[in-house]
Amino acid sequence: MQLRINGTLHEVDVEDDMPLLWVLRDELGLTGTKFGCGIAQCGACTVHLDGVAVRSCQTWAIDAEGADIRTIEGLGTPDALHAVQEAWLTEQVAQCGYCQSGQIMQAASLLAENPQPTDQEIDDVMSGNLCRCGTYPRIRAAVKRAANLMQEG
Ligand code: FES
Ligand code: FES
Repeated sequence: MQLRINGTLHEVDVEDDMPLLWVLRDELGLTGTKFGCGIAQCGACTVHLDGVAVRSCQTWAIDAEGADIRTIEGLGTPDALHAVQEAWLTEQVAQCGYCQSGQIMQAASLLAENPQPTDQEIDDVMSGNLCRCGTYPRIRAAVKRAANLMQEG
């Protein structure tokens, strides 16, 4: 099947029901997307399908065909970081880092849908992405910073 990932069309020879996570990591070497639980409970594997956050461990490859798939590798570039990545760096959000690509993808999707979320709205969405290091206060600060950066354009 053909999958459009980070703007590039990839031809992959995989089973229809292979989780997108394994296509990304094992077939294409895009290891920024992490495996945590495998059952859609932790958010470590979060990527975007047409700009919307999905859990790639429970998204079948066939269902991603035709969508614009975006991973952490394609969210920004070193020269032009996405506002969320910029805010994450300024707020020094990461601790061990394992959950963070999923957190960033979830936050970017949240802000695309709701450009000025309240604290409660941020907590409601971001608490679904588990962080064993407890970086939630910095995640909230970074989401607000990113919202302001995006508003400034
Ligand atoms: S690995 Fe997909 S939600 Fe945990
Ligand atoms: S930074 Fe360690 S699990 Fe989130």
